Amino acid sequence: MAKKKTAFFCQECGAQSPKWIGKCPSCGKWNTFVEEVIAGDEKAEWEEEFKTPAAKSAPKILDDIEAGKEQRIKTNDAELDRVLGGGIVPGSIVLIGGEPGIGKSTLMLQVALQLNMKNILYVSGEESGQQIKMRAQRLGLTSDSVLIYTETKLENIFSQIKAIKPSLLIIDSIQTIFTDRIEAASGSVSQIRQCTAELMKFAKQTNTPVFLIGHITKEGALAGPKVLEHMVDTVIQFEGDRHLSYRILRTTKNRFGSTSELGIYEMQSKGLRQVSNPSEILISQRSDDLSGIAIGASLEGNRPLLIEIQSLISPATYGTPQRSSTGFDPRRLNMLLAVLEKRGGFRLGVQDVFLNIAGGLRVDDPAIDLAVVVSLVSSLEEVPLSKKLCFAAEIGLGGEVRAVNRIESRITEAEKLGFKKIIISAFNTKGLDLSRYNIEIEAFSKLNDVFSSILNR
Ligand code: TYD
Ligand code: MG
Repeated sequence: MAKKKTAFFCQECGAQSPKWIGKCPSCGKWNTFVEEVIAGDEKAEWEEEFKTPAAKSAPKILDDIEAGKEQRIKTNDAELDRVLGGGIVPGSIVLIGGEPGIGKSTLMLQVALQLNMKNILYVSGEESGQQIKMRAQRLGLTSDSVLIYTETKLENIFSQIKAIKPSLLIIDSIQTIFTDRIEAASGSVSQIRQCTAELMKFAKQTNTPVFLIGHITKEGALAGPKVLEHMVDTVIQFEGDRHLSYRILRTTKNRFGSTSELGIYEMQSKGLRQVSNPSEILISQRSDDLSGIAIGASLEGNRPLLIEIQSLISPATYGTPQRSSTGFDPRRLNMLLAVLEKRGGFRLGVQDVFLNIAGGLRVDDPAIDLAVVVSLVSSLEEVPLSKKLCFAAEIGLGGEVRAVNRIESRITEAEKLGFKKIIISAFNTKGLDLSRYNIEIEAFSKLNDVFSSILNR
């Protein structure tokens, strides 16, 4: 047997070094190097098995390369398809991360049981066959093309793969899988990296899509080295408040699509329900006379979302005024407050400010600036706004109302949801055919003019 080789790896970025060093030269973090046994050069047994006698590749002229139709495997889940960029890409490797209990296993089982594919292999290192069966019963789904395999040793998994030749492989979870070729506990950095590397080779060589379920750490990052995220094609985060029923699927990396798409689900007693019209759930039912609420027409990826912004402003009675925001960048909130103070003449320095985006959503679309500002002023002045009014514009430091991208989709969505009026930037009206819409469109270039219009100042 060949002599065991070891090397030191940065746990943050995966940089390698032959000896221990205190500070990582590539990412600059301290004390992140850990010694790991690296596998010898010999190939894993299974690799030979799957080896296709591919012709040696040679450089080609771009014109000679056939683009080929991009194939996508549609799942029965429109939310997942959208997040993946239009369906599963054959040979791709997708990592789904999320807190324990958020519903990763439920999602994958539900998708697998509804997929129109033969031989789907669901490998579980976390639960017993009975537990999975009980979950499937709860979902009310059954399928004879899903094979459940409870195993954690990669070599055994590969021998089953050889026998079954699955069309889709799901690993629940990557942290429980280990390979004999590395002497480290499962879940350790080197195990995760090695197992992922082998699964990735399998995916690429056989053109089989692979889903990996991954845990996240207390800090919310995917457990395992950062390189894990570099290795896979797509990284999806499954988020949500465990005490609320809404779940959000969000891509942080996607080689085959946009990273700004969202999938929204509701966890029900019979599994995850796709929420195809999220605006309806994001806008709460309220009576007309509540101040501090404004609706912003935002875009998440290609999907317009109308979002309710709530704020509460009250005099600071205990010394330093508090600033708190949920779902919205606190620095941006501070900037908007400064603009209101300086350009609008509102006295906010002595007020506590609380801002909340309804539905537990995080939004970083600058187009909701105007709705944020209006909701703050509505709370401060105690002037409720009409329920049928919404906003889409960015605010500049000079108190100017700035244009935002894809204004048409925002207006169309607001109209579709029954809003009577939308306030946008005057700079967005160029080339906009106002007669196309039934919704009233009002355009302003200065923040103060918006206030004069809606607050009768
Ligand atoms: P699970 O998929 O086991 O989470 P993860 O794999 O991310 O750890 O989800 C478990 C939670 O979901 C658990 O709290 C029960 C709940 N749940 C439902 O509310 N309805 C259902 O139909 C199912 C299957 C689970
Ligand atoms: Mg699970």
